[in-house]
Amino acid sequence: MILQKLKESTRRQHEDVEGSVDVMNQMFSLDDYKKLIAKFWAFYAAFEPNLPYAELKEAGFDYDQRRKLKWLEADAKVLGLEKPEAFENLPDVSSLPKAFGSLYVVEGSTLGGSVIARHLNQHLGLTQENGGSFYASYGPLIGPMWKQFGEAITAYAGDGSNDDEIVAAAVETFDSINALFKSDAQASVGI
Ligand code: HEM
Repeated sequence: MILQKLKESTRRQHEDVEGSVDVMNQMFSLDDYKKLIAKFWAFYAAFEPNLPYAELKEAGFDYDQRRKLKWLEADAKVLGLEKPEAFENLPDVSSLPKAFGSLYVVEGSTLGGSVIARHLNQHLGLTQENGGSFYASYGPLIGPMWKQFGEAITAYAGDGSNDDEIVAAAVETFDSINALFKSDAQASVGI
């Protein structure tokens, strides 16, 4: 139920980010890719330290195993990116409902990531080893990892009393990511 609410409440925003992230375009170049990775790096470097890891784990979801920053750092190294300035327009993840709502967006994005990773491999020759590990994410485990997240958020949402707060956090996270793509984060990494 909560997953359905989240999907419906953020459908428009997903279309917006898909429009901004022009990664599937045939004209998308390696330089464009570097800018994209720099933006996600700026986001995750600021976002991941704020998550309530222990509370999430107690509530049945271990995000620690799913951190994206290490992939972005590895990709940035291969691609020769310099550390970006921290992104400031972050979603509030200070409560469990907010963290779960925000992580819906983060974990859901791995689903599109698998399609994108295949395209980047064919189009720019990117692999998990040479700068494409963020989009490759969990590789063949993307499906099972998403299913596991779905079960955890559904169990947490329970009777639905926190649904509004969860959904509001997902909306706020998409807003933040949309702002990220409209920002000039790449300027600070010297590309
Ligand atoms: C060009 C960029 C993108 C493409 C092509 C794309 C594509 C997709 C695809 C194919 C799915 C799977 C739908 C399904 O299996 O039911 C998906 C799901 C999802 N994507 Fe994206 N996506 C993109 C960018 C993003 C970004 C940047 C975010 C947020 C950071 C995001 C968040 C999500 C979420 C939350 C879902 C789960 C939807 C649900 O089933 O509830 N996507 N996307």
